[in-house]
Amino acid sequence: MLISGINSYKTNTARPVFRSSSREYFDPKLMQTNRTWGNIATTTWMFRQDLDWEKFTKFAYKNFINCKYVNTCSLACSDGSEAYSFIISALEKLPKGAYRKFIPLTAIDRDFEIIHSARQGKINLSTGDIGRINMISGFRHNKYFINKQPALNVSNDRFLEQCNAYEVNPDLRNKVIFKRANLLNYLASLKDSGNSIVFCRNVTPYLSMDNLFDLANTAGRVLKKGSLIVFGEFDKHSGILDFIDVKGFEQCMDYVFRKM
Ligand SMILES: C[S@@+](CC[C@H](N)C(=O)[O-])C[C@H]1O[C@@H](n2cnc3c(N)ncnc32)[C@H](O)[C@@H]1O
Repeated sequence: MLISGINSYKTNTARPVFRSSSREYFDPKLMQTNRTWGNIATTTWMFRQDLDWEKFTKFAYKNFINCKYVNTCSLACSDGSEAYSFIISALEKLPKGAYRKFIPLTAIDRDFEIIHSARQGKINLSTGDIGRINMISGFRHNKYFINKQPALNVSNDRFLEQCNAYEVNPDLRNKVIFKRANLLNYLASLKDSGNSIVFCRNVTPYLSMDNLFDLANTAGRVLKKGSLIVFGEFDKHSGILDFIDVKGFEQCMDYVFRKM
């Protein structure tokens, strides 16, 4: 198992977990500058319910109907659950072949270990995850996730609900490029012509206040008319949902904003 350069963060409080990933680490540099006192969790799960995935996928399809290619990226992707949720939704709910314009999807995270296991094509899935994959795929989770094994413990993972590790079917795995990067640098270098979807979900409370404003300013500058930025429920706690409109975005759905 690979050890990241970031100090491990251990707590003694176990809590119910219905998630693909729930591990935590600590960044001392953030101790006094972010809302979680330097603690960062990779918590994620398939078809996280703060987004209506089917509705969003159909909305994105219509929004980009005239684009040949949609530059789709998952910033702060954790174990890849978010990227896979979107692709599975596009495969299952859009007209045949329409998913192609959204791939390859680039998924980045700052955490070395989570990106390493995502690159290997391994993922932990709970029974809740499997249920939601079955809901959208007509009980065909086996089409996407194969070779059930004992749960993968990346580092300090905490499970209360039974999780199992699966291999991501190479057909699905190959649709995502995983990279280790800081989301601010990645966003700043993005070349957009109004054809991007930026998932930036459930990560903003982990940013320092300076970085939070940097994120909003960069999104406002880099993303062009028509592009989408998607946040999550946890982002309510950073305040970004209340001021992203000032940077030229209009809200289209819960947590979904389009550059005007
Ligand atoms: C709570 S998880 C969110 C995962 C997923 N987006 C979701 O909504 O389910 C937050 C993730 O953000 C990552 N992260 C935190 N700060 C980051 C940064 N500056 N750049 C890239 N990733 C970051 C963490 O490593 C963690 O995996």
